[in-house]
Amino acid sequence: MATNGAYEIIDHDYDVIVVGAGGAGLRATFGMANQGLKTACISKVFPTRSHTVAAQGGISAALGNMGEDDWRWHMYDTVKGSDWLGDQDAIEYMVREAIPAIIELEHQGVPFSRTEAGKIYQRPFGGMTTNYGEGTAQRTCAAADRTGHAILHTLYQQSLRYNAEFFIEYFALDLIMEDGKCRGVMAWNLADGTMHRFRGHLVCMATGGYGRAYFSATSAHTCTGDGNAMVARAGLPLEDMEFVQFHPTGIYGAGALITEGSRGEGGYLTNSEGERFMERYAPSAKDLASRDVVSRSMTIEMREGRGVGAEKDHIHLHLEHLDPAVLAQRLPGISETARIFAGVDVTKEPIPVLPTCHYNMGGIPTTYKGEVRTWTADDPEAVTPGLMAIGESASVSVHGANRLGSNSLLDLVVFGRAAALRAAELVTPGAPHEPLKADAGDDALARFDKLRHSSGGTPTAKLRDAMQRTMQNNCAVFRTGEVLQEGVDKLDELWGARDDLSVSDRSLIWNSDLVETLELENLMIQSAITMNGAKAREESRGAHAREDFPDRNDDEWMKHTLAWVDEKGKVDLKYRPVHLQPLSNEVESFPPKVRSY
Ligand code: FUM
Repeated sequence: MATNGAYEIIDHDYDVIVVGAGGAGLRATFGMANQGLKTACISKVFPTRSHTVAAQGGISAALGNMGEDDWRWHMYDTVKGSDWLGDQDAIEYMVREAIPAIIELEHQGVPFSRTEAGKIYQRPFGGMTTNYGEGTAQRTCAAADRTGHAILHTLYQQSLRYNAEFFIEYFALDLIMEDGKCRGVMAWNLADGTMHRFRGHLVCMATGGYGRAYFSATSAHTCTGDGNAMVARAGLPLEDMEFVQFHPTGIYGAGALITEGSRGEGGYLTNSEGERFMERYAPSAKDLASRDVVSRSMTIEMREGRGVGAEKDHIHLHLEHLDPAVLAQRLPGISETARIFAGVDVTKEPIPVLPTCHYNMGGIPTTYKGEVRTWTADDPEAVTPGLMAIGESASVSVHGANRLGSNSLLDLVVFGRAAALRAAELVTPGAPHEPLKADAGDDALARFDKLRHSSGGTPTAKLRDAMQRTMQNNCAVFRTGEVLQEGVDKLDELWGARDDLSVSDRSLIWNSDLVETLELENLMIQSAITMNGAKAREESRGAHAREDFPDRNDDEWMKHTLAWVDEKGKVDLKYRPVHLQPLSNEVESFPPKVRSY
């Protein structure tokens, strides 16, 4: 056991280390373990409590169980959904791998809902079409409305089949970087207070999104983007962080998710006049247009005084016309959620809903094999040795400026598997490790110690509340340069307030005050990057809707943002080209065109 000032460090050696145990982390973990790699998986929550458990509506794949389908149509929809910011090589990889990925999940035991013929049940979802936009695809494979729950439990069971070793309720603090290479990760065991230094040939971040940067989010409170922040602190860029998805149907007031699958099963939205307003905004796809389109339409309705309720500040989602048997069989979870969080019986009355922060398209830039991109003037495609990222923490980029519903669970399993395959190419099981530098991990512990002993006058919860409200007010569905600049200035001020933080609990065991402070630090980094990236991008694309620049501008802005943040919270932006070329010659590139639904 080594020591560092106040802390004793327990050392571990693994071939590969996965940080995070949601869908992506678990798929990578067992994929690496079953290829003979000594694999550690570190998670701040028990694996089956990871946020993947909350995914409801389903996972997309052109299986064609309920009508004709083709992976090329799925690819077109995803490119179009991304508003032409997605990399077409990565998108081709994802939609083609989708089909074997679902069969693999089925064989591993995911209890998918079934058709009369016994095939996997598939429902319509926003933006998913047949024949390049002509018809409605039934492409989203569902286990009722608890698909994430079903998949997560299956993946955890699979991980236990192999010899992956789990470090559960360990909080990852920082990466260990040496000479531009990732060598491992530092972590704090929340249960007994010990400090751990993990050395590995590869570290794979699967730490999820940072929805909790916002005041109202469908994300769990644990979604604080810890991996993104660790990568940013390591001096590496984050990509396309200005693209934040608002899900149209979070329950008004509570933020809890009501799946898009409810509209896939026939649900629809109305304004205060009882009008099915989506017919005006998206005459063809209507309530099943992509999420950015539906969220903006709802916001316009409320702004123009056609919102529901005394404050005209929400919209109605109707399911009461659906057969109660269908609700019970296909949508039991949201029927319960609506009852608990809105006091609504979905068989009798509409659910009050509101666009709510749901997903981060941006994250750690990676190749479609999971390797983390860095950026140099000579080579915008260069990767960082020893580091991978997958799942919502990554920007592959398959979702570009807007993710289609049910492409997220898909992203998790496809790229979790891809990272495992790449790890087996890069790492020889049992290969010896170079010694770490004597001070490896010291910076992480110094930062931890400073926060632990914070004795200013600002409680963590107060600063977090100010940050979340700033993100909610200044960087939401619609944006302007003026409002974003105000957001940049407010976040600058809040960055300074970090020096005045007060942590009242100094213990090392189950110190939730300190955990929340570490998470707040991580969220502040990502908020600063998101706000600055949004201010700089003077166009509207996907989920980034600038009222002062209402059009997409492909000439100047069809490029990925890369953002670095310094210790003072200042953000530096660069850009890399979008990959318009697919992976194979079995499909042609989809050239940019105006998006309509
Ligand atoms: O609406 C939903 O069920 C969410 C799905 C997703 O974000 O992919």
